[in-house]
Amino acid sequence: MILGIESSCDDSSVALLDIKNLKLLYHKKISQESEHSPFGGVVPELAARLHTRALPALLEEIKPKFKDIKAIAVTNEPGLSVSLIGGVSMAKALSVALNVPLIAVNHLVGHIYSLFLDCEARFPLGVLLVSGGHTMVLDIDTAGKISLLAGTSDDSFGESFDKVAKMIQLGYPGGAAVQNLARQCKDKQRFKFTIPLLHDKRLEYSFSGLKNQVRLEIERLGCDTSDKRLSNDDMADICYAFENAACAHIMDKLAKIFKERSFKRFGIVGGASANLNLRSRIERLCLESGCELLLAPLEFCSDNAAMIARAGREKYLKGEFVKHNELNINPRVKF
Ligand code: KG4
Ligand code: ZN
Repeated sequence: MILGIESSCDDSSVALLDIKNLKLLYHKKISQESEHSPFGGVVPELAARLHTRALPALLEEIKPKFKDIKAIAVTNEPGLSVSLIGGVSMAKALSVALNVPLIAVNHLVGHIYSLFLDCEARFPLGVLLVSGGHTMVLDIDTAGKISLLAGTSDDSFGESFDKVAKMIQLGYPGGAAVQNLARQCKDKQRFKFTIPLLHDKRLEYSFSGLKNQVRLEIERLGCDTSDKRLSNDDMADICYAFENAACAHIMDKLAKIFKERSFKRFGIVGGASANLNLRSRIERLCLESGCELLLAPLEFCSDNAAMIARAGREKYLKGEFVKHNELNINPRVKF
């Protein structure tokens, strides 16, 4: 089996995957959400400290399986450097102790493999990756080569939900909370946010202007200080308008990309792919385009070690191992 380790941001996770039949033999994740929530975002120093506590605790649970481990796959890029280092250091130490090879896994490739956790990968494939750190549309060819079709010039889709949640004091992470409030909206016409880059031909995303529009509305309601809080109805109406504008922005560029190329199949991955508004819009687009839609199970949309072990298994089959002294962390790598 392959041991997968993920610690690129605020989740410590470990998984054991059967190399032959892709059965997930163990998977656990310790999330740091409640610790970061009071700060409205991930505090790197706190994340690093919590990883050093959680990762060894998870490892302890799988100790009896150590003898069956054939390789260790670990996320080494991209992510928070102080978080990545926790998983990578543990993987290096363990690979020496167990005398098994190391496999370096790109976190974003891991997310792609969340679509194929229990089956062989099917390429070519178009992918929308939406998470707290990334927003990108990717094209993967038959050989598995990845090209970037669209990225973001500032915030990511998930991050914009987190920032709106912070402005209306919903804690971190904000995606699910904003989505839930949007569903309670009573006045769908009350707020109208402009869809970013609507008449701009560039295939590019930008969420910082939308976030600013939300901030200005909160100021207009006189609730930009902690003295006066927004009512539940205010929050629900804002979340509704924001979520729709954010999803419409994703869809506007995606529709243009779909016009340019005909995808045989298309997948949505990353923590923010759990957004139901976005999912239903993409379902419609794929149906209209005669394209098969692939979705990761909700449990594996956010960061997890199962997808890292799964991506690592492909490299294992190709013999793509990395030496201890060549396994480095790379916080900012892109496609
Ligand atoms: O993939 P992930 O676990 O971590 C990163 O690699 O960034 O994604 C977490 C992100 C957070 O920004 C969170 O707010 C967002 O995914 N998210 C959502 C939803 N559920 C999680 N964003 C929008 N709607 C959701 N339902
Ligand atoms: Zn992620």
